[in-house]
Amino acid sequence: MLQGKKIILGICGSIAAYKAAFLVRLLTKEGAAVRVVMTDAAKDFITPLTLSTLSKNPVLSTFFSNPQEGSWNNHIELGLWADLMLIAPASAHTLAKFSQGLCNDLLTAVYLSARCKVMLAPAMDLDMYSHPSTQANLQKLRDYGNLIIEAESGELASGLSGQGRMAEPENILQTVKTFFANDLPLKGKKVLLTAGPTQEAIDPVRYISNASSGKMGYALATELANNGAEVYLVSGPTNLKVTNKLITLAPVKSAQEMLDAAQVYFDTCDIAIFAAAVSDYAPVDIQKQKIKKNSNTLRLELHKTPDIAKTLSIKKKKNQFTVGFALETNDEEANAYKKIKGKNFDMIVLNSLNDKGAGFGYDTNKIKVFFAEKDDVKVFSLKSKQEVARDIIQLIKDNYHA
Ligand code: C5P
Repeated sequence: MLQGKKIILGICGSIAAYKAAFLVRLLTKEGAAVRVVMTDAAKDFITPLTLSTLSKNPVLSTFFSNPQEGSWNNHIELGLWADLMLIAPASAHTLAKFSQGLCNDLLTAVYLSARCKVMLAPAMDLDMYSHPSTQANLQKLRDYGNLIIEAESGELASGLSGQGRMAEPENILQTVKTFFANDLPLKGKKVLLTAGPTQEAIDPVRYISNASSGKMGYALATELANNGAEVYLVSGPTNLKVTNKLITLAPVKSAQEMLDAAQVYFDTCDIAIFAAAVSDYAPVDIQKQKIKKNSNTLRLELHKTPDIAKTLSIKKKKNQFTVGFALETNDEEANAYKKIKGKNFDMIVLNSLNDKGAGFGYDTNKIKVFFAEKDDVKVFSLKSKQEVARDIIQLIKDNYHA
């Protein structure tokens, strides 16, 4: 599958560097030519000998292998040679250098010279990973067009548990294969996706909303685009950004606006995923002026908002596939089945608020998936939202037959 593909594997100083040996094995087994560039710190964790033996190429880490002979490791030639540059593990320090354009070693010089796609698989402790400066660096690197292979959740070398583990080599290989696959599984498919919360105005400065961050929906959008789909993302207000060219963002605020925007795309879409946390009620009257606190109590009259998923999914055609979400606190499975029927979904993703780490605001989620057409339940463990998105999209690929 990777026959003839040329890959530079950058390795930084991290406990996860030992996994780079497996990664080299997996990549070369698929037929890729791998050249390893290590930082000095990486050598404290894994030897160049291991990596040169596995990659069947000399490992490079400095500009000059043999200065006396005047030979040098040409970072420009290396950068142009590669079809893909993959940094795994990518340490917090190297991510910061990449995001700033700092260039004091061979790896950073090759990065700045590379014209190919760059993928980064971060690995660090959970607090380092969630630190605003690391997250800002990652966002900047995404904005530059690099692909971030999100760190996974689990036990860390420090003994703590959380998000920060480098993605497993098998998952990294999958991302690399998807990148090189000319025939991406969802290429040409149009997907309507609702995400984020809605805001229902009370007056010019106040609204009714919920704590949805939009992270699950945006992770789905990224995963769909990685599979070649054209995504119409109708999103309520979030702090998240869209950079992938295959994703068209339609920003909305209220449930009614979300329905109006989604309706435009529904008839031509192949798949619709309703991941938005829509407010169920909205004020009957929106006050033109800011409400003054003149009385001790205040009554708001609310009306039901349109059910976007139901309105659209009940008119779905034979070749369309719809997916809903259910966030429940009690009678989870019964409610999920009720919704799959009532809203005419083909598939429903259930998250329970009783599961620790699942639901609004978290970077992780724990899901169960049910189907309209078969008596089957898929149960998943607690994972990062990016991994959960990968599982959901895989189930859609397995079950959607146009
Ligand atoms: O009824 P409930 O809100 O639990 O249903 C959840 C599912 O329906 C989700 O897929 C959600 O995006 C969708 N929904 C919607 N419009 C609403 C309420 C829910 O699209 N007004």
